[in-house]
Amino acid sequence: MRQNLLLWHLGQVGSIFRSNGIILLSFVMGKRKEIDGNPHVEFKQKIVRENIEQAAQEYYEMMDSRRSIRDFSEKKLPRSVVETVIKTAATAPSGAHKQPWTFCVVESPELKSQIRIAAEEEEKKSYEGRMSKEWLNDLKPLGTNHLKPFLETAPYLIIVFKKPYDLDENGNKLQNYYVNESVGIACGMLISAIHQVGLVTLTHTPSPMNFLTKLLKRPSNERAFLLLPVGYPAEETFVPDIHRKKLSEVMEFY
Ligand SMILES: Cc1cc2nc3c(=O)[nH]c(=O)nc-3n(C[C@H](O)[C@H](O)[C@H](O)COP(=O)(O)O)c2cc1C
Repeated sequence: MRQNLLLWHLGQVGSIFRSNGIILLSFVMGKRKEIDGNPHVEFKQKIVRENIEQAAQEYYEMMDSRRSIRDFSEKKLPRSVVETVIKTAATAPSGAHKQPWTFCVVESPELKSQIRIAAEEEEKKSYEGRMSKEWLNDLKPLGTNHLKPFLETAPYLIIVFKKPYDLDENGNKLQNYYVNESVGIACGMLISAIHQVGLVTLTHTPSPMNFLTKLLKRPSNERAFLLLPVGYPAEETFVPDIHRKKLSEVMEFY
């Protein structure tokens, strides 16, 4: 429920939105300051929860219901939703704020089909020789093989590219930092956003992925990082009966 406008500091006008226990403070103007000659704006925490334990539990339960889906429905979804989840992923922190990523969205059936053919070729080689016995054994409970029909059935494929360096207009290399960490965080946020809006995805890594750079005609400074089909699950979908480690197995408190 939107509440009335309030006057914050002198010269600052804001508004309060309240919904589901979240109070969102939105400020039109904030204080500004130069630090070492660089412009800074005052940070105001915009989300104020009335009950942080409940908020944490609810967020955990929502995220715990996420599963990797390998059977997609052909049901369409608005392109604007894909744009918004990518906009969300692009809010991720990144080393020196370099934002070393490009999110490519494939909707064209012809291109999806070319991607499927190339991915299955690589995956066949992997399953039939490139993967170790241990790896193949670890994959058994997941029931995966080299066939990837979801690359054609999912309405969108998001292919995330990392940029080890940027190129200026003269073709000179500009260094990026902590590229894998930054792009990994952005992908995590993308997966969370996709799940949060009621869609499903799969973290797919058809290895090696350089065929994606060629098919999508990406510049020389981009490397394919992850492929995420996005859509709705097929009507009857099964997922592996696997379990997550307990908190005591993944956390140490000091
Ligand atoms: C980096 C990474 C790469 C993955 N690559 C593949 C893949 O190529 N194919 C696939 O079917 N699943 C892939 N997965 C999905 C995992 O198998 C899945 O996350 C794991 O089995 C746990 O299941 P859940 O996501 O349903 O919790 C990948 C996951 C990650 C994080």
